[in-house]
Amino acid sequence: MMFSRIAGTGGFVPGAPVTNQDLVDRGIDTSDEWVSERTGIRCRHLVSDGMSTSQLAIEAARRALESAGLKAADLDMVIVATTTPDMVFPSTACLVQGALGMPVGAAAFDLQAVCSGFVYALTVADKFIRSGSHRRVLVIGAETLSRILDWTDRGTCVLFGDGAGAVILEADETPGILATAMHADGSQAGILSVSGQVSGGNLIGCPFIRMDGQAVFKYAVRVLSEVAQEVLDQAVLPLVQLDWLIPHQANIRIMQATAKKLGVLPERVVVTVDRHGNTSAASVPLALDVAVRDGRIKRGQTVLVEGVGGGFTWGAALLRY
Ligand code: UT7
Repeated sequence: MMFSRIAGTGGFVPGAPVTNQDLVDRGIDTSDEWVSERTGIRCRHLVSDGMSTSQLAIEAARRALESAGLKAADLDMVIVATTTPDMVFPSTACLVQGALGMPVGAAAFDLQAVCSGFVYALTVADKFIRSGSHRRVLVIGAETLSRILDWTDRGTCVLFGDGAGAVILEADETPGILATAMHADGSQAGILSVSGQVSGGNLIGCPFIRMDGQAVFKYAVRVLSEVAQEVLDQAVLPLVQLDWLIPHQANIRIMQATAKKLGVLPERVVVTVDRHGNTSAASVPLALDVAVRDGRIKRGQTVLVEGVGGGFTWGAALLRY
């Protein structure tokens, strides 16, 4: 029987950190105190003009390849989870495939599940590998969320950041990914959306993130604890054997409430929202990469990653690193 395991991780954030005070200095009607107390965010990284999602994705992918000791030529698929693709088409994944020099003929596609995107993409890649059709899949979460922020809406613009995280998922006889789950509830599409579209040469609708923060908050805490328990049950893994929880990095209060509901100790939760803000599909792989590189997550340990976001979508993957 074939399984998939993470062979390497990589992450990339653009430019210097932009602090909450920097946003105040740029004229946003907020304060460091409000943002850090309500969200845990202290800074985020923002792309400079002209920098694209694929550029961030390529950099994260190169680092993941290096950490896995592999070359782009070794890959047979790339999936990019993103809500902010470079263009309508070709997909960001095709741009990444071409730039990295992956083999011609390797599969490449984008996956859109907003902030759950990386967990969805990891789940999809795991299925391909388990089926035996693919052996090494590059899975990326990459975003330039700052392009779709309304800088006059202080309820959203202070929350998000740009970045990319990547993993190489590789076929192995020993299980790495132990259990996965993906869910959606389209009846909640309105609580978090960018409703705009390009049509007939015009922008129709709103090009910015609109969010009912409190509705998202409540929904997120409920589904994040439910889906975490679902994958633990699937793998028949008692909570005491879980080494690390990496929830979507949206708000420290959502993460703390989720951990408390599950019974996970705060020191077992990987937190990067303070330095990255909410980077949507990039948040989970960026946090994973940080905790692997700083030595917290070690080979053989169990890690539960989970995402939640627009759609509404949510999902989780339990893995042995
Ligand atoms: O990937 C998923 C994406 N989204 C999320 O995870 C977001 C989930 N929701 C949240 O994290 C929280 O709901 C927020 C952080 C967005 C908001 O926190 P809250 O505690 O729910 O605040 P609120 O929206 O109820 O607003 C409270 C007050 C309001 O003022 P009044 O009406 O009480 O005078 C807001 O106008 O805070 C005000 N406010 C701000 N003040 C300073 C809202 N945004 C800001 C701001 N700076 N940036």
